[in-house]
Amino acid sequence: MIKIAISGAAGRIGRTMFKSLIGSTEFEAVFGVDVNGADDLPYPVYKSFDAAPLDADVVIDFSSPAALDDILAYAVRTGAKLVLATTGYSPEQEKRVEAISHDVPVFRASNMSLGVNLLGNLAKEAAKFLGEDYDIEIVETHHNRKLDSPSGTALTLADEINSVREGSLEYTYGRHAAKHRREPNEIGIHAVRGGTVVGKHEIMFLGTGEVITLMHESENKEVFVRGALRAAKFLMTKTSGLYNMTSIIAQNYAVTSVRSEKDVALVTLPHIPFDEFLGLLDAIKQSGVNLDMISHHFNSDDTAAVSFTLDDASLSKVEGCIPTGLVSKTLRGAAKITAEGAGMEHKSGVAADVLTALRGAGAEVFAITTSEKQISCCIDAKSLSAAEAAVKSYYGIK
Ligand SMILES: NC(=O)c1ccc[n+]([C@@H]2O[C@H](COP(=O)([O-])OP(=O)(O)OC[C@H]3O[C@@H](n4cnc5c(N)ncnc54)[C@H](O)[C@@H]3O)[C@@H](O)[C@H]2O)c1
Repeated sequence: MIKIAISGAAGRIGRTMFKSLIGSTEFEAVFGVDVNGADDLPYPVYKSFDAAPLDADVVIDFSSPAALDDILAYAVRTGAKLVLATTGYSPEQEKRVEAISHDVPVFRASNMSLGVNLLGNLAKEAAKFLGEDYDIEIVETHHNRKLDSPSGTALTLADEINSVREGSLEYTYGRHAAKHRREPNEIGIHAVRGGTVVGKHEIMFLGTGEVITLMHESENKEVFVRGALRAAKFLMTKTSGLYNMTSIIAQNYAVTSVRSEKDVALVTLPHIPFDEFLGLLDAIKQSGVNLDMISHHFNSDDTAAVSFTLDDASLSKVEGCIPTGLVSKTLRGAAKITAEGAGMEHKSGVAADVLTALRGAGAEVFAITTSEKQISCCIDAKSLSAAEAAVKSYYGIK
């Protein structure tokens, strides 16, 4: 059982957390801490960590930035791991969190929901795709008791979008005092407060004649509790370091889908001058054939070695484009297996793991290409189903 101390125990999320731990076979709430105390909870709640027992494995904090010193002191005293979900830390507090992570493992996320993390990734893709012609505005809505604004999540989303624009965007918080036109390099961030809304984030991409909106809404507080408990479990194998949702995505989402294709041809030209290679690509383009996995490297004699795959049916057209006199090797009737995952770019060793799984399945690998989120291998066709099963099994994909 992982022993959990809940900081902010009497608050909305603290109470939800306690309820969700009742009957858990994995986690046990050993005590709570809340500056206001709480008499109505059936487990001990202390007013500060000074008075608390020393046996918590993980402190999960949903309280206030004012609690940070007390929590950090407890972690130093006891070695407890920290899941810090409170928002609104000052830059100086963020630095202290970073400093303590050299000694104890710390998980820090302004939003513990996996869906919001996906929203950030989608927003980055949209910002890349749409380029600078679209204005970007973020609107967040929360219940009327939220203390900080804009939300930590809105700021994290803005930072993610800004990373795609190489930090060139200026943040504009509301526009009530503005007496000038919007600048192209602004990102507007707006906070709406009211009612009982758990948390809603909209990212608007406003172009000429169209608006694209990406939106995430948390329907209940359990989503944050589930994320925080997942983070607690993740920290149990760590002895130090600063982690966030990307760390969990890297661990669990390195490969989430495996696709296979049959009737693949592989063409290899071991010695082709680069200009002739460009000419060949142009001729293939004119013939209307789509090439797939293209790899190229220079030989020591200044020629290039190139390989590419295509579908078997188009092979004769491509063979007709290869200049006479060039040595080429062609393999017909091969197969292709592609592993994909959003966490791949954050995890090292995925290619090694995929290739080991393919080898274990007896596959012969003829060519490999990789990108941030994808590894493709051209393999022999007879091993295809065993290879697909091996990679899926390694990554727990059904
Ligand atoms: N990261 C996430 O996914 C996520 C999700 C929801 C909320 N939050 C954040 O968690 C925090 C709490 O949210 P909430 O809705 O439960 O708020 P809340 O106001 O309902 O609860 C906060 C609790 O913390 C206690 N508290 C305040 N100062 C304290 C201190 N110095 N020491 C100990 N306890 C203290 C309060 O008495 C209160 O009971 C906020 O910062 C909120 O933004 C984060």
